[in-house]
This record gives sequence, structure tokens and C-alpha cells, in this order.
Amino acid sequence: MKVAVIGAAGGIGQALALLLKLRLPGHAELALYDIAPVTPGVAVDLSHIPTTVSITGYTGDDPSPALEGADVVLIPAGVARKPGMSRADLFNVNASIAKSVIEKVTEVCPNALVAIITNPVNTLVPIAAEIMKKAGVYDKRKLFGVTALDVLRAEDFVAELKEVDADKVYVPVVCGHSATTILPLLSQVEGLSFTEEEILSLTQRVQNAGTEVVEAKAGGGSATLSMAEAGCEFALSLVNGLMGKEDVLCAYVEGNTQYARFFSQPVRLGKNGIEEFMDLGPLSDYESAELDKMADILQADIQKGVDFIE
Ligand code: APR
Repeated sequence: MKVAVIGAAGGIGQALALLLKLRLPGHAELALYDIAPVTPGVAVDLSHIPTTVSITGYTGDDPSPALEGADVVLIPAGVARKPGMSRADLFNVNASIAKSVIEKVTEVCPNALVAIITNPVNTLVPIAAEIMKKAGVYDKRKLFGVTALDVLRAEDFVAELKEVDADKVYVPVVCGHSATTILPLLSQVEGLSFTEEEILSLTQRVQNAGTEVVEAKAGGGSATLSMAEAGCEFALSLVNGLMGKEDVLCAYVEGNTQYARFFSQPVRLGKNGIEEFMDLGPLSDYESAELDKMADILQADIQKGVDFIE
């Protein structure tokens, strides 16, 4: 297995590379690329941690050496939010970065599973899909927006409120990855129930959790360490799936819901990437009404990506 991290010298990228160096299975290869000249040094630094994972680092204008032969490509390349910015405010800069990276992916490793961490995820995943389509290599089972941090946050906040162990809580989080499109499905949390007030406050806290970090970092960026953990867990599920060990998780994909062409929903991962786009399951009246409202916002985010490419 070869995993490439593009944007590997950043706040997310370095922490993600560390976690992958520690946790990728067997004799996996980890390849780091970033335009920042420090990147080969980050790889040397990590190479001194004695695990079976081998690691290389590249910089310069061309990510191809990192992408060659990659089975999984993780993309946190881009700029991060400052206080007062929404994820959509990153669009102008990050869309161009994502475009150039995805164009290389279509040339160098068109069969890889590609997971986009860079924001705005709602719009960058459709951009990636359009680029891949134009290149004739698009497979919707292999392209993901990483929303795993929304799930981790929801689980943490529920565990804190209900005073239970976070590792025993599972909360599906669906729809999109922006404050107005993130929806935790609290009605599906096994063994716990919530008052209307709790549902509203938990939902809002999950939706605004990214901003909570941006404000706490006071101009120093957005979530990096928790995002790296979420990205690492997501990458491990992709790798395990490729090796035949299936897993179900939520990701932003070109799915099969009535709400929007791209949507974060549960998927079953396996040897071909997504083996099954799964149902959202039973929704409460509140969740159905929220999704109806969110669909228009998400569709506009998706259209912005399609227009960018056209
Ligand atoms: N190719 C590769 N790397 C790039 C490119 C590019 N074309 N352009 C920028 N980068 C690198 C930067 O050099 C930097 O090392 O991306 C890295 C981004 O790191 P940070 O600025 O620390 O940002 P980070 O907090 O890691 O967030 C990155 O992920 O969650 C999202 O919203 C977040 O969009 C942001 C992205």
C-alpha cells in the first residue's frame, strides 16, 4: 500500500504524516509532498521513528514522484481559516490548489482513492469530480470528501453531555461540511435519548466546532490535530478496505440521496473503494426538516464547483 499526503508540511499534513507513520499497517509506503521546501526534512525526521512504514518526502513544483503508484491520496493542501472567515471564504485560493493537484492525480495515479480534506469540501469534491470526468478517469466509488472530524466531534460532545465513554458512542453525521450543512443524526445514537433542547444545542455545537477552534487559535489557523486524527482514521479505513477488511463510515461522496448530487452519507468501504452507498436510515421529523432546508445550500455549493470548472 502506498499512501500519498499532498500538503504534508502544513498543520494538518505534518500531524497526519506522523499518525500514518505510526499506524499504517505492514510495510506500507508513505509519500509526502508539499510546495514548502521543508517537506523532505519532515520525512527524514519521521523516518527515525522505528516502524515498518517507509517514508519519502518531496517538494518543488511537481507532486508526481509522491503520487506515482499511490493507492490512496490524501489532500490537505491549501490555506486555513482565520477568525471571521467561513470555509467558503477559502474558495478562491483553495479551488486553484485543488485543481492543480487533482489534474496531476488524474495523470499519475488515476486509479487511486482520493480523499479531500482541504476546504471548502462541499465545493472542492465536485471540482475534483469534474476534472476527473474530463480526463475520463472518474469513478464515484473512489472520490471522497473527508467529514470524519464532524463524526469525532459529535461523538465527543455527546459523550461529554451524557457522561459516557466517547469510544462507545457512534453518531452518523450527514449532508455537507459547512456550518449550515452539517447534520448529526442524534436520533440514531444507540442507547441514548435527547431532549429537544439538547438536540438543538448539540447540533449547533457540531456545526460550529470548526469555528470554535478557529476563534480559540486567534489567527493561528483552524483545526489541525483533531483533523489529522480524523484524516488518519479515515485513511486507515480506506487502506483496510482495499486489503479486504470492510468498514462503514460517513463521507462526502457522489451518492444516491434525494437531497443533492454530492452528500455526506454512510458508505461501505472495500476493495474497490465504495462497495455500497448506504441508506440514511430512519430520520426524526427535525432531521428531515433540517435536511430539506440544507439541500438548497448544498446544491449551491456544488454548482459553484461545477461552474468553476466550466
Ligand atoms: N501543493 C502542495 N501543497 C500546497 C500547495 C500545493 N499546490 N499549496 C499549498 N500547499 C501547502 C502549504 O505549503 C502548507 O504546508 O498546504 C499546507 C497547508 O497547511 P496550513 O497552512 O498549515 O493549513 P492546515 O491547517 O493544514 O489546513 C489546510 O485543510 O481543513 C482544511 O480548512 C483547512 O483548507 C485548509 C486545509
